[in-house]
Amino acid sequence: MDIQKVKVLLTKAEIEAKVKELAQMLSRDYSGKNPLFVCVLKGAAVFLCDLIRHMDINLEVDFMAVSSYGNSTTSSGVVRILKDLEYSIEDRHVIIVEDIIDTGLTLDYLRENLLSRRPASLKIVALLDKPERRTVEIEADYRGFCIPDEFVVGYGLDFKENFRNLPDVCVLLEFG
Ligand code: IMP
Ligand code: MG
Repeated sequence: MDIQKVKVLLTKAEIEAKVKELAQMLSRDYSGKNPLFVCVLKGAAVFLCDLIRHMDINLEVDFMAVSSYGNSTTSSGVVRILKDLEYSIEDRHVIIVEDIIDTGLTLDYLRENLLSRRPASLKIVALLDKPERRTVEIEADYRGFCIPDEFVVGYGLDFKENFRNLPDVCVLLEFG
């Protein structure tokens, strides 16, 4: 791992405290509703695993994988579903779990797609948000951190599939 290529933006401890806070809010808001957490693979997997372990209510998880047509650092808004949900979400309380909202195009597509399946409710929890980059109107209902317009890796986020295992969220200094 070329550690020298990254600079820590959010430490493991800061992330853990924030994830706990989000989990408490979600536990309070979804108590008795048996919500379904829809994790957007692969980036949000680390976040999901930590989030649900801080929750003390009945809940279920499912996974979706999407790929956005575009290059490795920008998305085009045209999204292809690589892996769909296992079960119907009709009449379920659904929470999309995302690692980061950048342009918002991926989440905008996902939201419309899932809404067409008639869930009882649909909310978004995102660990990171880069509001400066937004091209469509979409906000997280539960948001961890607002970060500047820099490419970040770690805590599940990748650059060309690397760096997902870093415990901190780091800014990538060198692309290559
Ligand atoms: P959007 O469609 O532009 O909002 O892009 C969302 C997706 O792009 C996220 O789910 C990430 O997979 C990826 N992405 C956006 N910004 C970053 C970043 O800074 N680091 C790593 N992945 C990112
Ligand atoms: Mg992602």
